[in-house]
Amino acid sequence: MLTLNKISKKIGSRILFEDVTATFNAKNRYGLTGPNGAGKSTLLKIMMGLEEPTSGSVTLPSRIGFLRQNIEDFAKNKVIDTVIMGNDRLWNTLTERELLYEKEMTDEIGMRLGDLEEIVADEDGYTAESDAEILLIGMGIPAEFHGKELGSVPTDFQFRVMLCQALFGNPEALLLDEPTNHLDLESITWLENFLHNFNGTLIVVSHDRHFLNSVTTNIADIDYDTIIIYSGNYDEMIVAKTSVRDRSESENKSKEKKISQLQDFVSRFGAGSRASQVQSRLREINKLQPQDLKKSNIERPYIRFIPGDIQPGKIVLTADEISKSYDEPVITDFSCEIMRGDKIGVIGANGRGKTTLLKMLAQAISPDSGEVKKGHQVDIGYFSQNHNDVIDKSKKIEAFDWLKTQKTKAYDQDIRGVLGKMLFAGDDAFKEISKLSGGETARLILAKLILLENNVLILDEPNNHLDLESVSALSWGLEEFKGTAIVASHDRDLIGNFATKIIAFEKDGIHIFDGNLEEYLATRV
Ligand SMILES: Nc1ncnc2c1ncn2[C@@H]1O[C@H](COP(=O)(O)OP(=O)(O)OP(=O)(O)O)[C@@H](O)[C@H]1O
Ligand SMILES: [Mg+2]
Repeated sequence: MLTLNKISKKIGSRILFEDVTATFNAKNRYGLTGPNGAGKSTLLKIMMGLEEPTSGSVTLPSRIGFLRQNIEDFAKNKVIDTVIMGNDRLWNTLTERELLYEKEMTDEIGMRLGDLEEIVADEDGYTAESDAEILLIGMGIPAEFHGKELGSVPTDFQFRVMLCQALFGNPEALLLDEPTNHLDLESITWLENFLHNFNGTLIVVSHDRHFLNSVTTNIADIDYDTIIIYSGNYDEMIVAKTSVRDRSESENKSKEKKISQLQDFVSRFGAGSRASQVQSRLREINKLQPQDLKKSNIERPYIRFIPGDIQPGKIVLTADEISKSYDEPVITDFSCEIMRGDKIGVIGANGRGKTTLLKMLAQAISPDSGEVKKGHQVDIGYFSQNHNDVIDKSKKIEAFDWLKTQKTKAYDQDIRGVLGKMLFAGDDAFKEISKLSGGETARLILAKLILLENNVLILDEPNNHLDLESVSALSWGLEEFKGTAIVASHDRDLIGNFATKIIAFEKDGIHIFDGNLEEYLATRV
């Protein structure tokens, strides 16, 4: 069980949530939902003790597991060590112990080693390796991978290793922040099954409706500056939330009507002889005060990409027998021609090379052999799967200034205009980029693409991190776009809506298909 006691969080003048009291019970699976920037990640951090609430307290079970986002940071660690790192106290102790054993023994070192052994025993350190192995095998990661560096194993395995890390030490509660980002459908199904069998308290943040509906028994929704827990899955929450809202709104309307009738009476007879009746009406008016309905913070950005005046040539990009290998060949002798106006959806399972192809087409990396040729006056806007490639979050700079440096001779009012459309209105335009949430960062990158008016867009999983409103705005923006677009995504709705050609990474190779997603899928059955 996990409890929030009167938790408030304010950031500057902004209230994320106020006076929230809520209980998350064991055996329930909670989805934590809310639009981008609502404060979901912040709340998880408060629950994990990584961030302080402004006021209030949290009661936690003694062992909590959480999924870390920064897989890159573990790339050089062995798979098995990465799992054991799930228990910080144990891992730090084991590392210190190893260092001390390498030194020359002194009394002092001997004493310290004694202390460390106690902690190791306390944290079940003597069975740590075998515990970690059992978890890894359970997740379907064969023993031959356990000694390898995390960065060298296939991507979907890396993610499973991170889950093992979260589960290491039998946590009573599991906190997951957007675990389905970057996962293909097969891995998502695998994760769903896994979570169904988890026995503790699960709290999972996600913008993926299908996933939430399949996994959750309850939804904790952040809106109206508070958190309301609904029973049922995501779709059931939406129904309940709308009906509660409708009811309060219609109650308010009828109260307002009643008040105006009473006020009529008061103003007509206020100065006259019916003093006691007027008094009682006034009392009634006071009692009837309509409830102050807080505004929902769900908003939709306006995403419209308009290519500038420069028309590119008819052939926009040519890939000529391009190959790229990392440890193993990823793309071999691939050729294609991308024509002006093509709307291409790039699909396929994790780890098959979609990102590598997009990077080569965007000329962010070069092929090992072969060549990518850019057509006449082609101007590419690239949205990298890794946001850090575009926005360096270690820099201390505000959103407005960052966007301004992306285009020479941009007028301040144009920058403000684009930022407003992307929901950075008012002071939000001056947020520090290092503080932006995942979805806000994605919106700022999209703002750059809108501002630059590129005639070719290459977007690599742009919908990761975005909330439902933003994904549908993006889908519309791509549909309306008059330029050339190449977009990789696992979101079938998004690809289905805009793409008229498909590049599919299948087990039997890369297929280029002239038709939409539905038509392509029909050829595969
Ligand atoms: N230290 C900070 N200073 C200023 N603003 C902050 C800080 N930390 C977070 N914020 C802001 O607080 C809000 C909540 O951020 P949080 O990351 O919790 O959102 P989220 O609900 O997880 O969003 P997303 O769905 O995009 O991941 C955002 O608007 C963010 O910009
Ligand atoms: Mg978040």
